[in-house]
Amino acid sequence: MTTLLSVSDLRLSFGGLLAIDGLTFSVNEAEVVSVIGPNGAGKTSAFNCVTGFYRPTAGQIMLRGRSLRGLRPSAVAALGVARTFQNLRLFGELSVLDNVRAGAHLWLRQNVLDALLHTPRYRRSERECTEQAHHWLDFVGLRGDRYGEARHLPYGEQRRVEIARALARRPDLLLLDEPAAGLNHGEKTELLDLIRRIQALGVAIVLIEHDMGLVMEVSERVVVLNFGKEIADGRPEDVRRDPAVIEAYLGSDTHA
Ligand SMILES: Nc1ncnc2c1ncn2[C@@H]1O[C@H](COP(=O)(O)OP(=O)(O)OP(=O)(O)O)[C@@H](O)[C@H]1O
Ligand SMILES: [Mg+2]
Repeated sequence: MTTLLSVSDLRLSFGGLLAIDGLTFSVNEAEVVSVIGPNGAGKTSAFNCVTGFYRPTAGQIMLRGRSLRGLRPSAVAALGVARTFQNLRLFGELSVLDNVRAGAHLWLRQNVLDALLHTPRYRRSERECTEQAHHWLDFVGLRGDRYGEARHLPYGEQRRVEIARALARRPDLLLLDEPAAGLNHGEKTELLDLIRRIQALGVAIVLIEHDMGLVMEVSERVVVLNFGKEIADGRPEDVRRDPAVIEAYLGSDTHA
């Protein structure tokens, strides 16, 4: 198996607070790895470090042997890393289709001059963008209106649109930050199936999730954070039985 992402001894501090205090894990090509832990453990901060939104205080982040540290979010995205956000970040007033087209644009990398001159090449590429957007909306199983404003879609559907937008970038690595949050039981089952279909495309996934049923079902490996410290990394069945993990969850009053 080939290592796609490797994070070693990652540290991040905000003033006196150590949000991440030594995180080491790796993700192989087309593998699903979950990052779990109580609220405030540092999970989203870790995503923000990998994707260039935060600058880590120390540690290494390598994608296919190339360092991502110090790169801007757009540069990290261009190297094949896409993400969704814990709090949805769609362009609410744009149509659903245009939100996903925005992802596909990044992949097609149009030439500015072609765009200004509206050349046949530009028009072809715009058509392709639209086709791609429809394709990924079909892939995620969107049922709602594609031409209406994204903000009018029900919450679960907006989550799908965000995943479609990320996939339209054709990533090798997809980071999903609590994709099951706010979903009903049926939607969670569909999400599980979607994650498997994304993996079958050859895309590796790092999943932050509080829904343990989903995590145990879908992950090859699970990394556990607690107060910024990594307390476990292993197969789901082993992590589930790990006394330190049980203690971390019993000690928090939020998610069991
Ligand atoms: N921009 C920031 N400035 C200051 N502190 C921050 C910032 N971002 C995160 N933190 C702090 O870092 C810690 C880790 O936060 P983070 O959002 O990574 O946790 P999390 O594991 O994603 O939690 P949750 O499950 O609630 O989403 C928290 O104490 C949080 O308050
Ligand atoms: Mg978070």
